[in-house]
Amino acid sequence: MAKKQRLLTGLQPSGQLHIGNYLGALKPFADTYGEYESFLMVADYHALTTIKYPEQLRENTIDVVADYIAAGVNPAQAVIFKQSDVPEHTELAWIFECLVTVPFLMQAHAYKDKVGKGLEANAGLFNYPMLMAADILMYDTDLVPVGEDQRQHVEYAREAAAKFNAAYGETFKEPKDKIIKSVGTVPGIDGRKMSKSYGNTIPLFGTDDAIRTAVMGIVTDSRKSGEPLDPEKDTVFGLHRLFSGAQIVDLEKRYLAGSIGYKESKELLAENIIASVTPMREKRAALSRKSILKILADGGEVAREHASKKIKIVREKIGVTFT
Ligand code: ADP
Ligand code: TRP
Repeated sequence: MAKKQRLLTGLQPSGQLHIGNYLGALKPFADTYGEYESFLMVADYHALTTIKYPEQLRENTIDVVADYIAAGVNPAQAVIFKQSDVPEHTELAWIFECLVTVPFLMQAHAYKDKVGKGLEANAGLFNYPMLMAADILMYDTDLVPVGEDQRQHVEYAREAAAKFNAAYGETFKEPKDKIIKSVGTVPGIDGRKMSKSYGNTIPLFGTDDAIRTAVMGIVTDSRKSGEPLDPEKDTVFGLHRLFSGAQIVDLEKRYLAGSIGYKESKELLAENIIASVTPMREKRAALSRKSILKILADGGEVAREHASKKIKIVREKIGVTFT
């Protein structure tokens, strides 16, 4: 049997997820990671560029692991670990930083966007792509599943590999991105893209009531009940497409016939969302903090075993060790 390709992705522990994150990122990952030798890394050192509260970082780290397991990632089928447990990553990042130039890093989106908004960036944010390159290259990764926004950072990893290989001889594999094909853009309750920065989200692991409240708050036009509704222009209907399965055919008929009002449509949607997230929510609730810490500790050991072998080769090549 052919050797499986190696896949690695990193997740910033950034807080509560919404159903857009689930359909756009978690589910596509959970549906495909099993075909590869997969590594799932919590990028806690990347998060340190923004999160300054230790308790929040701890809590978010546990949460993100729980989210992925609840979404269907089996810890027995992937190495789940956190970046800070493998100090070789920050060591390798430093080595890459000595190979790339300041103008090159100045083009990176994470840094450019922040400065573009007139905000001050810390040096960690500036060097961020080289830490990400280290995360990826450390494991001879073939594929990096990421959202479109991270495409450029994977290119930076390829560039770091090429620079190192040119300077010291073939050492790192150049990885490819695997842009996650989501269901498209999940609309938020105001009809724009669902995003935590717009405050228009339906929470993934919220209580039934939190989901109902968000759904009942979806903005609709002012058509009265009894009037036909336009399924193409209605956010509620857009979400039905994602959550209401075979009911969609009947719903469309009722929309066009004017035999359903927004209130009923929303109530049905809320129940369908609740029904589809309930098993995940239950799975998540059954995960103890202790079991998650154990998953991270075990994964950290496996990752470190790989990383310590790789960094040994790197140290020899750059001339900091003696034989
Ligand atoms: P937010 O916009 O809420 O800050 P993030 O940028 O943290 O979300 O998104 C993380 C990932 O979740 C993205 O790479 C994207 O794949 C997915 N995602 C976020 N919002 C949506 C959405 N509305 N529809 C589809 N996918 C989304
Ligand atoms: N920078 C990525 C993000 O913000 C997270 C990340 C860190 C990552 N290291 C990685 C993603 C390595 C893929 C591979 O989403």
